[in-house]
Amino acid sequence: MSELTELPAWQALWDHFAEAKHLHMRDLFAADPGRAERYSLEVGGLFLDYSKNRITDATLLGLMELAREAGLPSRIKSMFKGEKINRTEDRAVLHVALRNRTNSPIHVDGEDVMPQVNSVLERMGKFAHAVRSGDWLGFTKQPITDIVNIGIGGSDLGPLMVCSALKPFGHPRLNMHFVSNVDGAQLKETLKKVHPETTLFVVESKTFTTQETLTNALTAREWFLSHARDEGAVAKHFVAVSTNQKAVAEFGIDPANMFEFWNWVGGRYSLWSAIGLPIMLYLGEENFTELLNGAHIMDQHFMNAPFEQNMPVLLAMIGVWYINYYGGGSHVIAPYDQYLHRLPAFIQQLDMESNGKQVTLSGQPVDFETAPIIWGETGINGQHAFFQLLHQGTHISPIDLIASLENRSNLPGHHEILLANVFAQAEAFMRGKTAEEVRAELAAQGLKGEALEALAPHKVFGGNRPTNTLLMSRLDPRNLGSLIALYEHKIFVQGVIWHINSFDQWGVELGKQLAKTIHAELTGKLGGAEHDSSTSRLIQLYRRVNA
Ligand code: F6P
Repeated sequence: MSELTELPAWQALWDHFAEAKHLHMRDLFAADPGRAERYSLEVGGLFLDYSKNRITDATLLGLMELAREAGLPSRIKSMFKGEKINRTEDRAVLHVALRNRTNSPIHVDGEDVMPQVNSVLERMGKFAHAVRSGDWLGFTKQPITDIVNIGIGGSDLGPLMVCSALKPFGHPRLNMHFVSNVDGAQLKETLKKVHPETTLFVVESKTFTTQETLTNALTAREWFLSHARDEGAVAKHFVAVSTNQKAVAEFGIDPANMFEFWNWVGGRYSLWSAIGLPIMLYLGEENFTELLNGAHIMDQHFMNAPFEQNMPVLLAMIGVWYINYYGGGSHVIAPYDQYLHRLPAFIQQLDMESNGKQVTLSGQPVDFETAPIIWGETGINGQHAFFQLLHQGTHISPIDLIASLENRSNLPGHHEILLANVFAQAEAFMRGKTAEEVRAELAAQGLKGEALEALAPHKVFGGNRPTNTLLMSRLDPRNLGSLIALYEHKIFVQGVIWHINSFDQWGVELGKQLAKTIHAELTGKLGGAEHDSSTSRLIQLYRRVNA
């Protein structure tokens, strides 16, 4: 038994599950006209309808009791106070300090972090203003037109997702490009689109040791110098964002051109820090501040609202219900908004790198499931691709349907079709279609006898498939800030329930280590390292083609 599974609430929920698993949402709705109103809430510009879940009042009561018994109230306080809750790295976890708009002091090792946070924000603001206004000039005295972000993982996905989501707020002169893949194809294709005289490279890496990023940055620098032919010009076209000033200087970027952040900001939680520089360059300081304001609204709500009316806690605990009791190990993110097309990838890293863990904080193997597999795509495209499995396949995979109420494309007719699909999908997943309904439908179409009976089972939808509908009043910086913070806190809550460390990522290290040796072999610097026969053969195949 682990710390979690011996909690009375954990056991009590199993007892409840034995009965609850037979309930159908269709019946729950029929029996309770007030269900949608009770199981929905609004925070800032976000509206959550969680009524289409396999839950009752007793389920929620049990889940909230579990959250309390797992120590959630004190763990929330510990995070916001700057305690070193990332124990394996001995670090505080303070993305909330980056958007602490009240400026109340938050201490790490006895020092208030807010003055540093504010001073970096101010530097970012000045720089962004200079670039956006055209005052910042390249080596031939031309304003910047293109920004190339070089980074990977948390140093890519956050800025990329936000810049894509808020494109309508972007500066009309600035084109944003994101290079993360060490496959030279991405950088090569990007460099074809930009001009060295008007391009600013933002090299983003928390550690400044990430091989993919440093390789791309080095190649970009060589490309730039092959045109500028002046080392002195680099300072006008390369800036760095990192926690590692020494490595930035060694790489050849003047520390005066570096924007700092701190080891208490996790990579996947870093878009609010200087890692957000590309966001600020594109959207401006005011919109970036709005993004922070939106996150702050969610932070305050998360800290202060009772669990029963707490959006991140509700989403997290309902998630636990499926993952641990129903055994649903997957969760779909389906934004019904083209601008949010990178949201699934962003949340995938946020959730899976945070909670993809197999030991508890005390190092004991878990005896329950942890993070679900997060996947997704814009909902409307998903409908014509993988929703078949979600409707009639054998897996139970809860789905977050995310949409903006306000029409932004202004193309007549589109928005109504889009939102009709959001609401229809949620209804279809919940209701399904019974065998009787199918038979009646087929009979009305003139089918009968064996033909009717042969076709009917294929057309039955079991329904009872859970969705959360998350609606934004509009997709703007403030609401996007709230939305991202909502997921961050949801993931934190689940990590607390599972007693795992959501803020390290040792699982990414082994592959990096092995790649170093193999890279040395592929480049002829090392021969004959020991491998299994499969790996050795793959290396031989590479050598045959690239001899
Ligand atoms: O390898 C995983 C990882 O460390 C992520 O956690 C991180 O977001 C990404 O690589 C990039 O790291 P860095 O910002 O240090 O280059």
